[in-house]
Amino acid sequence: MASNETTNGSAFKVLEYSDEVHAERPEDLRIGEHGYKYRLVDGRVMPPYITPNRYALSRAVATRPSDICFVSYPKSGSTWLSYIIVLLATGSNPSGATLRDSLHWVESSWTYPRSAADLEKAAAPRIFKSHMPYSMALGGEPAKNPCRYIYIARNPKDVCSSYYYFESGKSWSGYYNGGWDHWLDMFTSSRVQRGDWFDHALSWWEHRDADNILYLKFEDLKLDTRGQLEKIAKFLGLSVSDEQLREVERKIGFDQMQQTEFSALKDVKEFNKFFRKGEIGSWKEYFTVAQSEAFDRLYKERVGDSGLEFRFE
Ligand code: A3P
Repeated sequence: MASNETTNGSAFKVLEYSDEVHAERPEDLRIGEHGYKYRLVDGRVMPPYITPNRYALSRAVATRPSDICFVSYPKSGSTWLSYIIVLLATGSNPSGATLRDSLHWVESSWTYPRSAADLEKAAAPRIFKSHMPYSMALGGEPAKNPCRYIYIARNPKDVCSSYYYFESGKSWSGYYNGGWDHWLDMFTSSRVQRGDWFDHALSWWEHRDADNILYLKFEDLKLDTRGQLEKIAKFLGLSVSDEQLREVERKIGFDQMQQTEFSALKDVKEFNKFFRKGEIGSWKEYFTVAQSEAFDRLYKERVGDSGLEFRFE
């Protein structure tokens, strides 16, 4: 156990981010305005723990037809989706002690890092997490490998405000303290970790009709949970009974997920309020009217006639 990981009396240890343990070549890290810490990977702004070696390992994963990789821009509901996939794909019999431990987040050196040997012998279905755009996907180009990819997108105003909350004052972002207006400016000019939201969401949207890609939206999951569970099960080729679906729907509820030790994310320090609101439209607590209108113009300009649309409230 690394020195910054402590047991808490439960079946798991509490993982804590530190540059010394997780950044690999900390001298490559950059510090932006208001202390915002990041590194560049293939020219894209990334968190310090997305290291060159981990990224190379994730690109080189030889994927198998039984593999599942869920992908998102941060704060789009990927943890929620991960719990759904873990429950459906394992028949509610996950491989790890916690939700995070049941996943393989190969591009990251933080939270349960796996070696190439670990990945080789991991039980099927291997469930991978990624926050990469299409061009940087786990396993190389998705069109050329057998992995099933499930992308989840969320309206970018909610992503931006959820991300502001998530990044402010946290160790992995250099204890960034820029305030909302500054954050919004960073978000809309591709300077936050994981880079440009529009590029990211559109890069997978362009491939949404591929046989091995399913494109979901947070808002649909929220408003039609049962329908989306059925869609996911069908995409994964699983036959799930009505009773199982009802059970999964109950377990992944916003309150229920937090009350269950397995899914509450208590194994990661600084995630003490990870489940912030879980709603559609909480961006209104942050955006001024003028900011919202400017964002709408940007959205129109960037998303154009691609057909990518969201409910914003
Ligand atoms: P908010 O900050 O708006 O509350 P990710 O897992 O990709 O980082 O996304 C985190 C967002 O998903 C947070 O949004 C979090 O509250 C929300 N979320 C997590 N579990 C959820 C659930 N079971 N139901 C609804 N929203 C959920």
